[in-house]
Amino acid sequence: MLDEDSLRAGLPIAWIGENFYFHQSIDSTNAEGNRLAKEGAPHGTLIVANEQRAGRGRAGRRWITAPDSAIAMSIVVRPDQILANDWQKVNAIAALAVVKVLEDYGLSAEIKWPNDVLLDGKKVAGILLEGVWRADQAEFAVLGIGVNVKKRSLPSLNLLNFPATYIMETSTQPIARDELLFAILRALVAWIDRLNTDELTVNLNKHLAFVNQTVVIDNDPQLGGKLLGVDDEGRLRIIIQGEELVLGYEHSSLRLKS
Ligand code: ATP
Ligand code: BTN
Repeated sequence: MLDEDSLRAGLPIAWIGENFYFHQSIDSTNAEGNRLAKEGAPHGTLIVANEQRAGRGRAGRRWITAPDSAIAMSIVVRPDQILANDWQKVNAIAALAVVKVLEDYGLSAEIKWPNDVLLDGKKVAGILLEGVWRADQAEFAVLGIGVNVKKRSLPSLNLLNFPATYIMETSTQPIARDELLFAILRALVAWIDRLNTDELTVNLNKHLAFVNQTVVIDNDPQLGGKLLGVDDEGRLRIIIQGEELVLGYEHSSLRLKS
């Protein structure tokens, strides 16, 4: 059960959730995070929903959050607290936080660069970092995390362009969504504290999917090659036609070459 009182009792976790909103059902916690941030909501404002009716993925895609089955949450991030240059890395850090928590539950998950978490090669969680900019100055970002926990969270096949799974498909122990949510927030805080450390780069690489395999980026045959890992900025290192290239977050889609 995910309810407002049990969540509030465990918050804040460091800088996250002093300002906390719970919705049984909402269009999108990211949309709400954007609305609240525009009204001045502080760094660390947390929005959690039991259901999303219009959950967002990247590039206008949909993210499905059925009631009582998943985690859908968003956090307002202010640039004076986390340097604008580092924001994109926060994307990868959020994926790493989910992977680390699943590892603590005995589950071996991987990061599909740049923003997905795979369990058994299938998508179990997605991250969406949306920024709002005024001229050159970043005003705020909203970090959204969606995790499939119970069977009911699985979208129907026709809504998927990549195979999906949910935690309880693999886990042998029951997992309470509130405990999972707290654990993800603790891991997120801990890894954001290590934003510019070698330890972060090492761990992103350790948990990266498809290393040493041939992948295709953005469905572009020119961008096919052997995936080496990520660099200190969280960018993808890949060998294309014998040359090592570094791809930033403007590239987004990664698939194993079929
Ligand atoms: P990419 O091609 O860049 O890897 P993607 O297909 O993973 O992108 P995203 O924007 O990262 O697209 O995620 C949105 C997509 O995730 C949706 O188009 C849908 O295919 C899939 N999806 C939606 N809801 C869920 C869910 N609850 N669990 C798993 N997958 C989902
Ligand atoms: C993706 O894989 O494209 C990212 C999916 C991100 C989904 C989360 S669920 C909580 C937050 N609210 C949204 O509308 N999207 C993010």
